[in-house]
Amino acid sequence: MPADDPHLADAASDPRRVEAIIGLCFLVGIAGVAAFGGAFVEDANTQVLAGTLFGGLFFLGFGLAAWGKYLMPRGPFVEERHPLESSARDRQAMAAAIVERTGIVVKRRKLLGAMLATGLGIFGVVAAFPLLRSLGPKPGSSLFKTNWKKGSLLVDLYGKPVHRTDMQVGGLLTVFPQGKENTLTAQAVDQAVLIRVQSTTLVTMKGRGDWAPDGYVCYSKVCTHLGCPVGLYEQLLELLVCPCHQSMFNVRDGAFPVFGPAPRPLPQLPVYFDSNGFLRARDGFDQPVGPGFWERTTQGNGRASAT
Ligand code: FES
Repeated sequence: MPADDPHLADAASDPRRVEAIIGLCFLVGIAGVAAFGGAFVEDANTQVLAGTLFGGLFFLGFGLAAWGKYLMPRGPFVEERHPLESSARDRQAMAAAIVERTGIVVKRRKLLGAMLATGLGIFGVVAAFPLLRSLGPKPGSSLFKTNWKKGSLLVDLYGKPVHRTDMQVGGLLTVFPQGKENTLTAQAVDQAVLIRVQSTTLVTMKGRGDWAPDGYVCYSKVCTHLGCPVGLYEQLLELLVCPCHQSMFNVRDGAFPVFGPAPRPLPQLPVYFDSNGFLRARDGFDQPVGPGFWERTTQGNGRASAT
């Protein structure tokens, strides 16, 4: 193999040795990426993950670069023109020589090619591990349920039940089902916003006439766009505002979205006063809370009838 770069002359003179070194690099690279996969499955620390991944990719890359630099034919290439009077037989002989020469090169590099393909294949598989793990556990039926159920007492963040005299018109409070209010037991989907509006002008969806006694209306706090907490309340306009992408929900009208990307109203929690004047849930939410998902059945908006 001719080498036009004097630094390559040594390697060019002993391609077998170069192939052995490249093969060794590929082997170390394969071991590195396989070790990375094992370390990821075993939840090894970050240093081990980084070290094995770096080592694997480095040696595979080094071997590949060395292959290109030291083993691939290097120019300039000159092909002698065959004599004009050459016979068909001569031309056939020349073609056969070229095929044979190329075949030897290809055959000799088959093992290296297989090793490289193995290394890259293993890397392709282990690269999918973080992606698969980032999908998290299967949600099961958790997307359909919250901890709100019939009779759940509405409490604030500190576990204090909400009494009918606690809030003025225009007030807003984040509430949870009793027992699920502290940070250890609370689920994001359980958060709800309780707002007191003028009951005389409250509009609600069909069939929800008794869901908001004395103007106490309660909606899921999880945005139906991408799940941010809808915690901002524009009191004058009586709109709940999502801070993420500015969806606005009309609290007087079944939390119907009047602006922004949210596709559905916030689910409403039906509430009532118990005999002691504390607010309780009549039932859970009548539809899954939060953003849409594939199995969610479509809910009609059932627009509004005055209470
Ligand atoms: Fe609420 Fe996007 S998450 S508007």
